[in-house]
Amino acid sequence: MTDAAAPATSQTTPATASSPAARTPEAPDWRRTAVIYQVYPRSFADSTGSGVGDIPGITARLDALADLGVDAVWLSPFYRSPQKDAGYDVSDFRDIDPSFGTLADFDAMLDKAHGLGLRIIVDMVPNHTSDQHPWFQAALAAAPGSPERARYLFRDGRGEHGELPPNNWPSVFGGPAWTRVTEADGSPGQWYLHLFDSSQPDLDWTQEEVRAEFDDVLRFWLDRGVDGFRVDVAHGLAKAPGLPDLDHDPTADAPTVQSACWGQDGVHEVWRRWRRITDEYDGDRALVAEAWIYPLDFMARWVRPDEMHQAFNFPYMETGWSPAQMRSVIDESLAAFGAVGAPSTWVLSNHDIVRHTTRLAQGVDYPQGHGVGPETPGLPDVESGIRRGRAATLFMLGLPGSAYLYQGEELGLPEAVDLPPEARQDPTFARTGGARYGRDGCRVPLPWEADSPAFGFSPTGESWLPQPADWRTRARDAQRGRPGSTLEMYRTALRERRANGLATGSIAWLEVPEGALAYVNGDVAVVTNMFAAPFAVPGEVLASSAPFGGTLAPDTTVWVRRDDAMAG
Ligand code: GLC
Repeated sequence: MTDAAAPATSQTTPATASSPAARTPEAPDWRRTAVIYQVYPRSFADSTGSGVGDIPGITARLDALADLGVDAVWLSPFYRSPQKDAGYDVSDFRDIDPSFGTLADFDAMLDKAHGLGLRIIVDMVPNHTSDQHPWFQAALAAAPGSPERARYLFRDGRGEHGELPPNNWPSVFGGPAWTRVTEADGSPGQWYLHLFDSSQPDLDWTQEEVRAEFDDVLRFWLDRGVDGFRVDVAHGLAKAPGLPDLDHDPTADAPTVQSACWGQDGVHEVWRRWRRITDEYDGDRALVAEAWIYPLDFMARWVRPDEMHQAFNFPYMETGWSPAQMRSVIDESLAAFGAVGAPSTWVLSNHDIVRHTTRLAQGVDYPQGHGVGPETPGLPDVESGIRRGRAATLFMLGLPGSAYLYQGEELGLPEAVDLPPEARQDPTFARTGGARYGRDGCRVPLPWEADSPAFGFSPTGESWLPQPADWRTRARDAQRGRPGSTLEMYRTALRERRANGLATGSIAWLEVPEGALAYVNGDVAVVTNMFAAPFAVPGEVLASSAPFGGTLAPDTTVWVRRDDAMAG
């Protein structure tokens, strides 16, 4: 293999620091390098036996995450919520939902995490509230034109009697983005905007009262000691003035681009305001954008120097198992984020999409985010999907910047495809009449111990979604210490990533046979055979995604020491 003429793009640590004491040359700014593990609280660990995971459950299992070798944990929402969208429908941003525990439980969890050297990022959901939030309840009780309604996006309907929605915007979860209310006198009334479920009314972020409220909510959690926020729907919030019709048919299959409802410029002043707040605090607090918007150089606006620190790299996540596409999205990512001085991030799975062990598998071409079920054509063979998923992960973890892992991927969990319809809870399933399976298949509670009730998820064996029986062999205790297990592959990769400084490195592409992709990062060569004939990779092996004896088979990644790899 030889160095190809490719630009080596650097990820360097900036000299400025909000907390110099926390950072040394040996410990660069974590916001540029961290491996961040996403905990989905309802499916992580249940301490009470209710079948729903909770915060004491997380606390009790944090050692496993320290043992895995991650730097930080992002918690999906645990706030008080009717759980119509699994907690992304918040009715009180300053409290914990009783099903998850109490604020005291949260503080104890945070203390334990910090004691283990793990940072904690919490999810903040500013685009909308729950319809049970006191503000929305007050808006329903108040009259059209009232200050209570002004916090949301209430509008009169179109048509002779206001019987048509105010515009043609669709809900991300299916159906229209508008719901009509009944006024206090019983008459059919105004409509309110909800880009997601009807239980999630959008706030009007042109209102100073809304902005001030979230300033205060941020401070509430920063004061408690959280290390940052993952900001939900960070490409929403600002809507085009006048809420004009969309002039295209935005199907869920097309990548989201700037439009009247997404990616409006007005959103950036909110992020600058939030950045000023996080900068007031010591300890390098982080802001992470969920800005699901294309293309990458547009998304990079969210991580300009005075806005957020990171943005999820969804274009990377949505790239298929193709050397050419993978190489180009990586070059594009490093260039786009590098141009604004931000680190690139890398991610393959989260709570909104089909798990990558299933999604990337051979012959699979699922519409992103729609979920899969037993009737989905071309469901992959599970073990071959896991093999490719492992190769994809090991390829990702060698890249410079920050990486996200979604709970359970370190166990190689596939998507749970055969959930019974009555068990499915994602509003997408109901709002599309079952046409889209939704996201439950990637949210099934974790298997911890092969021989415990609910595989150790809950003491009673309860589980809010049923766990596939064959997850017994995938339980953490069945994999820990077993050479060649997916868990041990992740542990090795995270250890070597740190030991070799890969997060702060830069990459150059290597020449490899067609159907393969390889780069060098510092002293480490990362070589993936996607679908080439097996070929030799010499050198000292640091990690491999499948048994490797010097010849690299398809769907396999290996990390070797550069000197040896380059020789000959
Ligand atoms: C984000 C979340 C998703 C949620 C939606 C509405 O995309 O990741 O789970 O349903 O926002 O809050």
